[in-house]
Amino acid sequence: MLQPRRPPVIVAPSLLAADFSRLAEEAKAVEAAGADWLHLDVMDGHFVPNISFGPLVLRALRRHVRLPFDVHLMIAPADPFLDDFAAAGADHITVHVEAGPHLHRSLQRIRGLGKAAGVALNPATPVESVAYVLDAIDLVNVMTVNPGFGGQKFLAGQLPKIAALRRMIDAAGRRIALEVDGGIDPASARAAVEAGADTLVAGTAIYAAADYAGAIAALRPAAG
Ligand code: DX5
Ligand code: ZN
Repeated sequence: MLQPRRPPVIVAPSLLAADFSRLAEEAKAVEAAGADWLHLDVMDGHFVPNISFGPLVLRALRRHVRLPFDVHLMIAPADPFLDDFAAAGADHITVHVEAGPHLHRSLQRIRGLGKAAGVALNPATPVESVAYVLDAIDLVNVMTVNPGFGGQKFLAGQLPKIAALRRMIDAAGRRIALEVDGGIDPASARAAVEAGADTLVAGTAIYAAADYAGAIAALRPAAG
C-alpha cells in the first residue's frame, strides 16, 4: 500500500563544529555538499556557558554563501539584537522560550523584520510553552542536548516531545518546520524523523567527517 508522502527532510549543518579559522570555506563546502540550510549558533556566555560569534560574522559569511541562514540565538535578552541579525542576513531567527519575558512580542518582531520566526525549547522546556503562540511561529527547534556546546550525546528522552509537537503542528494545519538540534547522527536522525522531525541540525556528524556530502546524505532517511 502506498504510504502518505512526507516531504524530504531538511539538513542544516551547524557551523559551530567547523574550522573557525576558515569559516567561509567551511560554509561553502557544506553548500556544495548538498546542505539545505546553514545553522548558525550564536552564544553569549550568559544564557549558555559558551561564546561563539555574532552579527558581524554572519554579515561577512553572507557574501560567500547562498544557503538560507538558520540563526539560533542562545542569547538573553535577544530582543535588542533581532534587528542586527536580520540586517546581517539571517533568514530564520530562533529565540529560546526563556530568552525574554514576552515571547510573542519577540516572534512578532522577527516576522515584522521579514524573517521566519523560530522558538527553541531546552530539554526541560515543555511543549505547552508554544501552544498558544503557534500562529506566530514558522519553526520549532527541539534541543536534544543542553544548549552551549557541540559534540554532546543525543537525549532520547526528547523523542516524545518531538512527537507531541508533530501532533500540535499537524493540528495547526500550516507549515511549521520541526527542527531537532544536538547529537544528531544517522541513528538519532532516524529516531527523530520517525518521531516527526522534518529538519535536522548536525554539527559534529558533518564537520568531523572527511566527506561532507556523504555525511549529509547519511542523515537523510533512505528513500522507499
Ligand atoms: C548546541 C547547538 C547545536 C550544536 C549541534 O548548543 O545549538 O546546533 O552545534 O552540534 P552537534 O551536532 O555536534 O551536537
Ligand atoms: Zn543550534
